[in-house]
This record gives sequence, C-alpha cells and structure tokens, in this order.
Amino acid sequence: MTYLQERDLGRQIQDRIADPAGKRRYVRDLFGGIAGRYDVTNDLMSVGLHRRWKALALQIADVRAGHVLLDLAAGTGDFALRAARQGRAERIVAADLTVEMLQAGKLREGAESVEWIACDALSLPLADRSVDRALVGYGLRNFAGLARGLAEIRRVLRPGGKLVALDFGRVEPEWLDRMYLRYLEVSASAAGWVLHRNVESYRYIPESLRVYPAQRGVTDLMQRLGFQHCGHVDLVFGAMAINFGELPD
Ligand SMILES: C[S@@+](CC[C@H](N)C(=O)[O-])C[C@H]1O[C@@H](n2cnc3c(N)ncnc32)[C@H](O)[C@@H]1O
Repeated sequence: MTYLQERDLGRQIQDRIADPAGKRRYVRDLFGGIAGRYDVTNDLMSVGLHRRWKALALQIADVRAGHVLLDLAAGTGDFALRAARQGRAERIVAADLTVEMLQAGKLREGAESVEWIACDALSLPLADRSVDRALVGYGLRNFAGLARGLAEIRRVLRPGGKLVALDFGRVEPEWLDRMYLRYLEVSASAAGWVLHRNVESYRYIPESLRVYPAQRGVTDLMQRLGFQHCGHVDLVFGAMAINFGELPD
C-alpha cells in the first residue's frame, strides 16, 4: 500500500465516523466482524500488557464488598470477569453495543457470574444512582458522543461512585505525538493485514484517536460534569492512560 493510499484510507474512515449515527454503525460493524478473534489480537497487539494495565485500573477502582460494578463497552468482559474473580462485587454488569462481542464474552470462564447486557452507553437501561464503580476499557474513544456517554455514566453512578477508564492516550510534546500517530497508522495497517487480511480493521485506532480528546480532555469533561478528584495515570509515556474521578458523597 502506498503512502497516498494509506492517507486516503484514513480520510475514508474519518468521513464514516464524522457523524454520530455513522460512527455508531461503523463501530458496531467493526467489532461485530472481529469479535471471535478480539481477545487473541488484543494480547498480540499489546504483547500482553493490556492485562497489566487493566489490573492497575481495577486497583484504582477500589471495588469493595457489596458493590455494583458496571463494565461499560465491556466487549468480551475483561474487567467484569477480573472483578468476578476478585469476588468482592455483589453484582457485575457487562454492557456493550455489539452483540457478537458479548457472545464471545459469555463463552469465557466465569461468565455465569456476570449479567451481559446489549445496549448503547449513551442510553443505559440502568436506574439513576444504581452503580458504585464504572470501568471502561478502550471504550470512551469509541462512543458516538463522549460528553453524552460520560453524562450517562454520571447518571447511573451513586454518590461517592467512581469512574475509571483505560484507553489510548496522546503523548507530549507535539512532534513526538505526530510520530506516535504515524507509527500507529503503519503498525495498525500491518496488524490488520496480518491478522485479518484487512488493513482497515485496526486502522480505525489512530483515526479514532485523532478526534478523541484523550486523557487531558477526558479529565476536563469529567470535571465539568461534576466528578471530583479527577486525574489520569500515563502509561508508556502517555500512549495509554487511565482516567479516574468520583462523584461527591
Ligand atoms: C476495543 S473494544 C474494548 C473491549 C473491552 N472493554 C476491552 O477492554 O478489551 C471496544 C468496545 O466498545 C464497544 N462500544 C463502542 N461504542 C459503544 C457504545 N456506544 N455503547 C456500548 N458499547 C460500545 C464496542 O462494541 C466494543 O466492544
């Protein structure tokens, strides 16, 4: 693939995710198509590091006995199943837009301890103030409306409830960030080709990251929505980040 074809592919993806309905459709089709291989690919692409980052996110979430935990944009339920293994939460809900991802999750060990719900994070079928901990792994970046998704998480969290979100981040300074995005473009196209014979399947990652406000923007949005003690932990120089914040008691 030439540089020009590459750049064109990026533009095509941007066009398709430019409006909320288009992005929702794009994301559902994308994850619906890769659901069966998602877990293996995730391990390969992060060389297993996503497991460590998820363990850290769960530690920051500080799940306690009797808590209701929501794994939002759960996919195959990594956070939900980890929390189930810890055994502290009383109720664990894994919610995702893509039915195929949830189906793959339901086949995993421990799945029977989790309630699997197909729904859109922008309109959750959960009561106000019914959740103690919300965890989102590589999900916020994919929402068709980030502010709306965060507001919906705020609605379902109880006073004192915490949100912890892991996702790709942006690095500083700007010249390094440009190199990093270029690296993601090339490596994502290569990984898509090797794993799925489709350069587009992972090329969505850098394209979605370009239009995502990343760790600093998410912190700002959370603060504006009334979350307290907001912050983020940068991982790999900010290429990954964990955002966190809690609601006042
Ligand atoms: C990259 S996967 C992450 C899966 C899992 N959380 C993990 O950390 O491995 C992103 C997931 O977000 C889900 N998703 C995207 N937009 C969503 C939305 N608006 N509501 C619920 N789930 C959404 C997709 O269906 C997909 O399963």
